[in-house]
Amino acid sequence: MRKQIAAANWKMNLSFQQAEKLLDEILAADISLANHQLAIFAVPFPYLLMTRSELEEMPQYKVAAQNCHQKKSGAFTGEVAAEMLHSIGVQYCIIGHSERREYFSESNIQLAEKVNICFENYVTPIFCCGEPLAVREAGNQNSFVENQLKESLFHLPAAKAKELIIAYEPIWAIGTGKTATTEQAQEMHAHLRNVLAAHFGNDVANEIPILYGGSVKAANAKEIFACDDVDGGLVGGASLVAADFVEIIKALQ
Ligand code: PGA
Repeated sequence: MRKQIAAANWKMNLSFQQAEKLLDEILAADISLANHQLAIFAVPFPYLLMTRSELEEMPQYKVAAQNCHQKKSGAFTGEVAAEMLHSIGVQYCIIGHSERREYFSESNIQLAEKVNICFENYVTPIFCCGEPLAVREAGNQNSFVENQLKESLFHLPAAKAKELIIAYEPIWAIGTGKTATTEQAQEMHAHLRNVLAAHFGNDVANEIPILYGGSVKAANAKEIFACDDVDGGLVGGASLVAADFVEIIKALQ
C-alpha cells in the first residue's frame, strides 16, 4: 500500500524552546496512524537530535533534514553531509525545495547528486518539484516539472526510485495563501505518476508517494488529500501552529 504522509517543513523558523513546545503540543494530540501513514518533521539542523529523541517511541513519526550537501565530506564550511544525518538517525531529507533552487541556485544536475548521496547514506530524499507562475500562465507546467524529474531522478535504478518521496509544490502557491485547486493538483499528480510509470514502470510509479505542497491548511487538507494521486502534503506555514498541523495529520485518515 502506498504511503500517506503529512510532512511539516519548518524552514528557518522557531527558537529551540518554541520548537520543543510545538512538538510537545502536536504529540499530545496522540493521533494514531496506520502502518502506511507517516508524519514527518523537517526541522532546522540544530533541532534534529531533539526532534529525533522526542519521536523515539512513535514509529509512524519521523524526523527529516531540510537539505544536505551533495559531496560525501570535506572542506565545505557550513554544510551538512548526508552521512552525518544518517549517523544521528535521520532517515529523511528534503531535496530541491524551490527556496533552495531560487536562493541558493540549486540546479537539477546538482540535485541529482544530492539524491544519490542521500541514497548512499540510507537517507530517503523528499524530492521537490514545481513550476513558477510564469510557466503555469504559459501552460507549460507539465513539461517543466517533467524535466525536473528527468534531470534529477531518471538516472536512478528502479529499485531506488521506488523508495523516493516526491513533493509537487507549485511555486505560486507557496506561502501565498493561494492553493492549487483540487483539479489542478490531481491533474499534475496524475501527470507525474504517468511520467514515472513511463520511465520506471507501473509498479514503481504506484509505490511513490506524491505529496502536494503550497498553502495547505487545516481547512483544505482533507479535500486536497482526497484526490486519487495526492498522498498527503508538505506543509510550511500551517505546520508551525500545533492545532493546525494536528488537523492536517488527521486529514490523512
Ligand atoms: P506553505 O509552504 O505551506 O507555507 O505554502 C510549503 C512549502 O514551502 O513546503
